[in-house]
Amino acid sequence: MAGSVGYKYVKIDIIKLQMGAEMKTIRLKVNGNSRQLVVDDNLLLLDYLRKTLGLTGAKQSCDRKGQCGACTVIVNKRAVLSCLTKVASLDGAEVITVEGLGTPENPHLIQEAFVLSGAIQCGFCTPGMIMAAKALLDVNQNPTVDEIKHALRRNLCRCTGYAKIVSAVELAGRFLRGETTPAAVRAELGEAQMGVSHPRPSGMLKACGQANFTADITVPGALELAVVRSPHAHARIKGIDFSAAENLPGVVGFMTAKDVKGTNRLRMILPDRPVICEDRVRYIGDPVAVVAAETQDQALAAAEAIRVDYETLPAISTPAEAMAEGAAQVHDDIPNICYSQPQIKGDADQALASSAEVIEARFRTQLNHQAPMEPEACVAYLEEDEEGEEPQLVVIGRSINIHAHMGMLQKAVGYENMRYEEAYVGGQFGIKIEVTSEGIAAAAALHFKRPVRYIPSLAESMDLTPKRHPFDMKVKLGADADGHLTALDMDITVDNGAYMSIGMVVIGRALYMLSGSYNIPNVKAMARLVYTNSPWGSAARGAGPPQAHFALECAMDMLAEKMGIDPLEFRVRNSLQPGQSKSTGAVVEQWPFPELCETMKARYEQGRGQIPASQDGPIKRGVGLGAGAFGIGNPGDAAIMAVEIDPDDKITIYGAVADPGEGNDSMLTQLAAQVMNLPLDRFRLETRNTDKTTATGPAAGSRMTYLAGGALVDAAEKLKQAMSQAGASSYEALKKADLPTRYIGNKKVQASGPLDPKTGQGPSFESQVHALQLAEVEVNTDTGEVRVLKMTTAVDSGPVINPLNLVGQLEGGMDQGAGYALREEFIAGQTKDWVTFQFPTMRTSFDMESILQETPRMYGTLGATGVGEMTMVPTAPAIINAIHDACGVWVLDLPATPAKVKAALAETK
Ligand code: FES
Ligand code: FES
Repeated sequence: MAGSVGYKYVKIDIIKLQMGAEMKTIRLKVNGNSRQLVVDDNLLLLDYLRKTLGLTGAKQSCDRKGQCGACTVIVNKRAVLSCLTKVASLDGAEVITVEGLGTPENPHLIQEAFVLSGAIQCGFCTPGMIMAAKALLDVNQNPTVDEIKHALRRNLCRCTGYAKIVSAVELAGRFLRGETTPAAVRAELGEAQMGVSHPRPSGMLKACGQANFTADITVPGALELAVVRSPHAHARIKGIDFSAAENLPGVVGFMTAKDVKGTNRLRMILPDRPVICEDRVRYIGDPVAVVAAETQDQALAAAEAIRVDYETLPAISTPAEAMAEGAAQVHDDIPNICYSQPQIKGDADQALASSAEVIEARFRTQLNHQAPMEPEACVAYLEEDEEGEEPQLVVIGRSINIHAHMGMLQKAVGYENMRYEEAYVGGQFGIKIEVTSEGIAAAAALHFKRPVRYIPSLAESMDLTPKRHPFDMKVKLGADADGHLTALDMDITVDNGAYMSIGMVVIGRALYMLSGSYNIPNVKAMARLVYTNSPWGSAARGAGPPQAHFALECAMDMLAEKMGIDPLEFRVRNSLQPGQSKSTGAVVEQWPFPELCETMKARYEQGRGQIPASQDGPIKRGVGLGAGAFGIGNPGDAAIMAVEIDPDDKITIYGAVADPGEGNDSMLTQLAAQVMNLPLDRFRLETRNTDKTTATGPAAGSRMTYLAGGALVDAAEKLKQAMSQAGASSYEALKKADLPTRYIGNKKVQASGPLDPKTGQGPSFESQVHALQLAEVEVNTDTGEVRVLKMTTAVDSGPVINPLNLVGQLEGGMDQGAGYALREEFIAGQTKDWVTFQFPTMRTSFDMESILQETPRMYGTLGATGVGEMTMVPTAPAIINAIHDACGVWVLDLPATPAKVKAALAETK
């Protein structure tokens, strides 16, 4: 275990002080090193650590509001938020940061525990969590779960759902008490490569604060950027006055749309989104002007001083307004109803007319933020060519699709010679399918001809990113007298916000998976995408199916109740069977959903059994189910990967497979090790640099295991075959046998082509992940508050590659799903931080259980698919169904806030 580092002399830190501020000389120790510095009262410990000492393990997620805990360090044996701690108050103090605990080569036991417990996904929250855990364990080596939750109550995590973090602190306690050791835990994992929870390759770097996220990267001479953004949802830009900002200290220059040399369009599907707005802003947050200065504070001060003359225009707030007769167009050249797609299978009208029972309801979901903890940072600079050729523009950022995003940037800023490098990334959940801060950073590096760092605040990051689309769904669902579904009629209107992004794809995904887990012989659906002046929608964990499944799965419970059939039995009775077709008409070959229902039966009955026979008080308990069938491998999708054996006999895996926390690094190394029957330490990864990788598509849609993993298996099998031919697994042997050292692998989805534009019939996703989820809740009928007691998920995604990573995805999805169901909503102009967003906390966390069924998929990667989005799909309907079970009301307008639950209860009185 690494302890404090000894010191022999005092280091003197030179700090830039504010003119006129009162100064103070202080001494303190940081990670055992004595330091002396002169400070004014403004210097925050977080800035001193990160900017002066380069100790970037402490992170910043919230805007220094004490809301995230990512900046937690230990001062005088207590966990403190370094963003709220003034250095001037620390004379004589002893400060420990995550770097002072241990290194990847010699980690602290708590760092080991976090790595071995699967408590680290993106790792952005991890240093703060570890420091809060250390402060607890220093005084209590055997804390209860409640004590752990209390000690870590100020630390947020978006990825894990908190369960694994609690487990990590418990394991750290066991290590510290001497009950077991990291070596013993590792030994239990064994040698097998697949089906084993080997620690993720980046885990220890993240635990030790050594993984560089974008804001941790400094470039000598870099300018800091700040952006002027529109406060109006719709306005014309009549003029921009820079005069008050021009002579402010540190200001280097300004940039507007006319300074962007390319198309100034960040085109995903349509060229409708500018890097910087030219003459019109279309939502609150649209970028209008950029300022570059020597420091971030100077840039922000200058941005404040810039005056924009706006002519406000009527803003279209809802799809209904956008679709009204004579409505103004959000984009002059594209109608407000910018895309529509029907889906027709059989004759739903006739089938509904002759059904024994039909339910009819309207479901609405909210605009939501995906809420990765890391702000949307980007660094960009021109790298001089040694031979005097054109310099290369290097963009370092948060992309999950570096090749495609580089292509978008090349056109937008008009510069071909470019390289995109993916930094370590603090979560994504769909938000990073789009280019955000990179557009401005890339254009600014070219314009100012100096390196730039664009590190937006959390509030600005919320404004500049795409959101989860709100869906408005009118549903009719019918069944015959035997309780078999007859028809589904669903009319869907999607608020696309100001820009297209992948809105059409989101609608397509909802329709591909519209019939969910069930055999519905007749389907009639119409989905339309509508521009408004709201924040723009894009990918968000699940992207389409969570919204449509919310309506379908609640409708299933409504219909089951109307027919007097148990909800679990109703789902089993209507499960699709191999040979039957989905709403797209695509016939399925495998459908292991009934087996999942069987697996869940005991938990479901147990949950029901825990509901008291009489619930007289205000607290009512209920259970609810939600199912999901999530498609993986859409028609035409493909990936390419490569493996190469190097002179040191290590094998490098090449391919642009982003890992913003899901565990793709583990997936790749474990699959390759499994195929080649070699130890994990023979493999290394080259996945984050466009110059060194092939494009493999976005790390989104839960597609990486199925596609990139499949391509890697192909490449690894070829290399294995060559080694067998050479008679040895070494570089020299291959060379001697005159065999190539590099092999390319491919995977392609067999079907291709879009849905028929008139009928929505056509090829569908090649494989499915299945889930059935059980929510157990308590509803306080006095306050309307809903408490999730437990979520149980039964999931079949095929053979498991890394159980801890997979369960981590399931748990994180359940936690996000619960936030979606009950609290979270993004309101433009109002949602500005983690408190107004209602970020899930240790306090709102709940018990979770994951049951894994492993049916090998016919076309899977060694039988496996992917699972990253699965539990986001059925969680909200399971909770809403449980609320209904508890107190008899339907809340069909997400989120089910206490006010909405109370209002629904009041209507029943
Ligand atoms: S940055 Fe300190 S609590 Fe968020
Ligand atoms: S691991 Fe906690 S925020 Fe990602």
